[in-house]
Amino acid sequence: MKTPAFTSGITGTVGSTPLVELTRLAENSTVRVFAKLEAYNPGGSIKDRSALEMIRHGIATGRIVPGRSVVVESSSGNLGIGLAQVCAYFGIRFICVVDPRTNVQNIAIMRALGAEVEVVTRTDPVTGEYLPVRIRRVRELAAKLPGGYWPDQYSNPRNPRAHHTTMREIVEALSGPPDLLFCATSSCGTLRGCAEYSRKNGLGIRIVAVDAVGSTIFGNPVGPRLIPGHGAAVRPALYRDGLADEVVHVDDAGAVVGCRRLAGQEAILAGGSSGAVVTALERSLDRIPPGSTCVLVFPDRGERYLDTIYDDDWVRSRFGDISHLWKQDATVMETSAY
Ligand SMILES: Cc1ncc(COP(=O)(O)O)c(C=O)c1O
Repeated sequence: MKTPAFTSGITGTVGSTPLVELTRLAENSTVRVFAKLEAYNPGGSIKDRSALEMIRHGIATGRIVPGRSVVVESSSGNLGIGLAQVCAYFGIRFICVVDPRTNVQNIAIMRALGAEVEVVTRTDPVTGEYLPVRIRRVRELAAKLPGGYWPDQYSNPRNPRAHHTTMREIVEALSGPPDLLFCATSSCGTLRGCAEYSRKNGLGIRIVAVDAVGSTIFGNPVGPRLIPGHGAAVRPALYRDGLADEVVHVDDAGAVVGCRRLAGQEAILAGGSSGAVVTALERSLDRIPPGSTCVLVFPDRGERYLDTIYDDDWVRSRFGDISHLWKQDATVMETSAY
């Protein structure tokens, strides 16, 4: 029988995202570079996978009952949007706890999908970060509300489980494992899921974790960060030593430059963590064995960063004039195209 060319319900469109070869980023190298475009998920990010897997599992185990349960979660935006969509689909009330760094458009999307959004306004007195305050509020709401359920993306094993599929799709698309995988980290869901799948299947993929400068996931001190998405102020419970074969830390300016180069060279408008991954690749290129195949995971799209990463005034006010770091390459490309 022919496979139907449609899916039943929006949740059927989560995953199976495109893998695209990038021919310009590493033009002068023998390394082949591919990007997994997670923006193609229906909620616009990689977190749709985790949201669907955690909620489906909660329903299957009876811990979430549509119509009765209240799902409460802390998110900087992408997981919140994924959960808002999945909860709306299954008829589950959803409260998302965010902080002032969350993009207003993300909040509007969650609300449009029926979620209730609560913004914490104070930072933690010890770390100066919003995350511990958000987590405390989620705990409180989940305990107080009848039917309250906290999926807890930072410790829920179904979060990394969702990324066994991410890794499998990459291996299937390439008809074999890549040599290296670059992925940004926050909850460590992507990193752990991809690493677990690779090791369980003996694929030998070298996993490069890309973290933000100022994030403490890999033991560095906490510091200020401007770009939401990747990085964490507290080491997630999902973290395990040895998941990453290598860790590259990229600062906010590096993430911006990576995004702008990606837009200029490959015509891909992606989010901040994708830019960090691009910069991490560029910094690693001279150490990667010739002829290797690299896959970069791009977690989300650039539209959610138009008033920051893609706004010239915002970039200049934060980092000074750094436009030569991406414009230079654009000129080279323009002239070499003729
Ligand atoms: C834009 C973006 N990049 C990267 C990540 C990190 O993914 P993970 O939580 O699987 O470590 C996230 C997580 O929310 C994200 O939103």
